[in-house]
Amino acid sequence: MEKFYATTPIYYVNANPHIGHAYTQIALDVLARYHRMNGSDVFFLTGTDEHGEKIEEAAIKAGFTKGNEKAFVDGIVTNFQNVWKALDITHDNFIRTTDEWHKKTVQEILIKVKDAGDIYLGEYNGWFCAPCETFWTDTQAPSAKCPDCARSLEKIEEKNYFFRMSKYQEWLIDYINKNPRFIMPEYRKNEVLGFLREQLNDLCISRPKDRMSWGIELPFDKNYVVYVWFDALLNYISGIGYLDDKKRFERYWPADLHLIAKDILRHHAVYWPIMLKSAGLELPRTIFAHGWWKIGEEKMSKSKGNSVDPLRIAGELGVDPLRYFLIKAVNFGQDGVFSEEALISAYNSDLANDLGNLLNRTLTMVEKYFNGISPSASLIYPDKNLQELSLGIKEDAYGIFDDIDKFLKDFSLNAALERIWRLIDRANKYIEKAAPWKYSKEGNIEAIKIIIADLLDALNISAIALYPFMPETSRKMRLQMGLTGDITKIPMNEIKKWRMFPIGIKIAKAEPIFPRIQPPVQK
Ligand code: MSP
Repeated sequence: MEKFYATTPIYYVNANPHIGHAYTQIALDVLARYHRMNGSDVFFLTGTDEHGEKIEEAAIKAGFTKGNEKAFVDGIVTNFQNVWKALDITHDNFIRTTDEWHKKTVQEILIKVKDAGDIYLGEYNGWFCAPCETFWTDTQAPSAKCPDCARSLEKIEEKNYFFRMSKYQEWLIDYINKNPRFIMPEYRKNEVLGFLREQLNDLCISRPKDRMSWGIELPFDKNYVVYVWFDALLNYISGIGYLDDKKRFERYWPADLHLIAKDILRHHAVYWPIMLKSAGLELPRTIFAHGWWKIGEEKMSKSKGNSVDPLRIAGELGVDPLRYFLIKAVNFGQDGVFSEEALISAYNSDLANDLGNLLNRTLTMVEKYFNGISPSASLIYPDKNLQELSLGIKEDAYGIFDDIDKFLKDFSLNAALERIWRLIDRANKYIEKAAPWKYSKEGNIEAIKIIIADLLDALNISAIALYPFMPETSRKMRLQMGLTGDITKIPMNEIKKWRMFPIGIKIAKAEPIFPRIQPPVQK
């Protein structure tokens, strides 16, 4: 059995999740569900990043005293877990960096890396951006502003431990060049190679406890805690049992996919591979960085105060419409601008009109012409027009699974959804062009049987193909069509038969699955 081990970033718990975080979760959930459907042994890991200066500050701001950060983060972690549950996210484990096994893993790896001669004590003289938890040199930040977020940097001059990254620079460049799917999309790979053209500095990986103590203690020096990124990245191995479940670790490592956004590409594509190499572990197969959701020109983020709450949107429009919109609205990899107007407009046109109406019209015809029982259709066509329409839709339906497979392997999630809509559009046009009401007037019931059988097939195939994207909708559609089988047990790549819709089953009453929504009045 093939395995698919995939991860999201672990999110900082200084604030509640917003649409940006939900995006990564939903995208990975689509892939995880797809791989499970096709029989892979999937492990989907997500979690929370709970240490470091930024979290400590947030805890203090929220009224918790130093030493009580855990009580603060516990509350936020619960919020993350609740939102993922509400959005139908099917992760297999939720790792917290405050978990005991995780802390032990970090300490064990620190010892390994030190034994490999890659950690040394030195003098740190440079800049630190607390909100980004990132170090910068004088040359990188000549005006004392963070090159990533433009905020003011704090000057740090103290004895610290360093990770000898510079030693691995040439090796990493070579590795990236030899493994074209290691960093995706390609333009992100080029960005990393560009960064690696400059001399790679060793990474400061400690914080003296007297300045910042909310972290994991260095196993070889009690006066320090480890830098939060060195701690966080190791979740990808601790979360599958590096120390506490070796069998599981061996089964799933290396990761098949680390899904992240472009803001944390350097940490994943430079620090992480070097950490693994130094510790003698294999590298992940693919790191894919998607783009940002923005509000206007600005990245959506807690610090900009422009966060949109995914629970509110899901409460107002439904979980699946939110999942649909986020995946459909941008080319996976690129940035997107979030707006509720765009969401409502996609809801009304794609979901209420295209998909909802197709289901409704089809089921209403089954009721009207066949008393709600799915008909068996002849393979002999009454005329050329119907033959062309029928063979046309069959071709679109047949090809759908191979196309989706190709798109998803290339992380073109939006293209996979568009491909499903090609079939849905085709089915709607089929009804217009075949005009079953005309055959009805002529009393040609055999022709109507063909039309209905084709439409039920197209709808069932659409429902199956939609499952990873909109699981609830997929179930609802199949239930209305009278199909009760467990959708998760249907291997998508095996359904290539036409006229597979069961004959003689009773369909349920047609109910609108996406009632139209009145767009808010523009002021
Ligand atoms: N804790 C680190 C990650 C450690 S992983 C070993 C971190 N956390 S974060 O809370 O800032 O989350 C960053 C991630 O959240 C991004 O990589 C992305 O997956 C998601 N997003 C946060 N804001 C986003 C947008 N505005 N748009 C798209 N994704 C966004 O970095």
